[in-house]
Amino acid sequence: MNHKDSAPSIQHSARQVAIEVITNILLQQGSLSTQLARHQADVASEHIPLLKELCFGVCRQYPKLNSIALHLLAHPFEEKDTDLYATLLLGLYQLSYMNTPDHAAVNETVEACRLLKKDWATKLMNAVLRRFQREADDIIASLESTPSVEYNQPKWLLKRYIKHWPEQFEAIVDASNTHPPMCIRINESQVSRETYQEQLNELGIKSYPGDFSTSALYLKNAVRVGELPSFEEGFVSVQDEAAQLSAHILNPKPGEKILDACAAPGGKTGHLLEKGNGIDLTAVELEPWRMEKIESNIERLGFNANLICADAGATDSWWDGEQFDKVLLDVPCSATGVIRRNPDIKINRKPADIDQLVLIQREILSKVWGTLKSGGYLLYATCSLMPEENERQIQHFLEHQTDAKEVAMNTLAPEFALEWGIPVSHGRQLFPTIEGHDGFYYCLLKKS
Ligand SMILES: C[S@@+](CC[C@H](N)C(=O)[O-])C[C@H]1O[C@@H](n2cnc3c(N)ncnc32)[C@H](O)[C@@H]1O
Repeated sequence: MNHKDSAPSIQHSARQVAIEVITNILLQQGSLSTQLARHQADVASEHIPLLKELCFGVCRQYPKLNSIALHLLAHPFEEKDTDLYATLLLGLYQLSYMNTPDHAAVNETVEACRLLKKDWATKLMNAVLRRFQREADDIIASLESTPSVEYNQPKWLLKRYIKHWPEQFEAIVDASNTHPPMCIRINESQVSRETYQEQLNELGIKSYPGDFSTSALYLKNAVRVGELPSFEEGFVSVQDEAAQLSAHILNPKPGEKILDACAAPGGKTGHLLEKGNGIDLTAVELEPWRMEKIESNIERLGFNANLICADAGATDSWWDGEQFDKVLLDVPCSATGVIRRNPDIKINRKPADIDQLVLIQREILSKVWGTLKSGGYLLYATCSLMPEENERQIQHFLEHQTDAKEVAMNTLAPEFALEWGIPVSHGRQLFPTIEGHDGFYYCLLKKS
């Protein structure tokens, strides 16, 4: 039996909401995660997985779908018809990647034009999708001679991967194009990783330990957090393995005064508090709505911290002058190491964003450095694969900050094996891996 014929067709409500989400992303009106957070209540809860699959899927496959769509259209849609373009991308995604029967995918896409009150586009949409049905193999084969289509990456980003990481770029691209695994962090102050893994096993939830973070467990299949034993009691959190390394590197000790600058949603804040039970932690975050996430995260874990909503770089506005023993500086970045979790980056990130981010990071780093005491440590972190934001940013900092020096990543935790990522001119770079950690960058600095 043809597998496609047995699959259910898509609910209109999930599709209509997906059109709105993708339209807004195409019009640069917010990220996929903020759009989904805002709109997922518009569909019945049983349709949320479908909504996510459509939205994540279109973003993940965007370079390919976009080139197919432009190839099929004699004239691109005008900006006021971006909703029709989103509809077409969704139709092409269904035809190429989902089990919806083809005739249902075409009919529903055409019907979506009517629901948008753009009946004039129904004929065009029908013709374009039917042509794709007939000629898909030839069209895809011809378009895939272009590397950005073959590798399914924006042109500018692929160029940079090839330039900066000629040996790793294929693996980077493969990992960036796949669905990421669900990784959890075990609260080792409550339960060992082995014991928790056994508890998962008893529930039929298969997992495997992370190679680099002693607190990391990967789930073979993602589950809802409510299914994780003792989640509400704070025994476990969802956090990528590479992100977990920050607390292992900083190795917080009770009594230390620690700053977590750029802290939301508080994944690393929670880990620092778990590891250094009894630390005096200050978390600074710019966005009030993201600050709320830190609050709820650390409340679930049962900790307190000094939470400040401010620009971390504007130290005059929030800092009381008492210096910190350790600082975690997880700066805003291009997020090129976590594209598989934020695939809308393929649509919206532009080369100029990187230049701007480099300046923002430079400013925050130089200002926050002043809050660190002599002999203190600052861990600079990004989830970026761009050397400008990472090793070159640190190079620039070290050239201008004479009281800063780079130290080995296991200075504060000598037992912590440095087997993760690769050493670069300053710090270590991790690349995203299929079924493993995200792309990340770390550099540990000491103030003399
Ligand atoms: C990479 S995320 C941090 C992730 C976080 N450390 C965690 O592990 O959950 C960067 C955060 O910095 C915040 N941010 C951006 N600019 C900032 C600034 N000037 N001061 C403080 N926070 C800032 C962003 O809103 C975002 O929440």
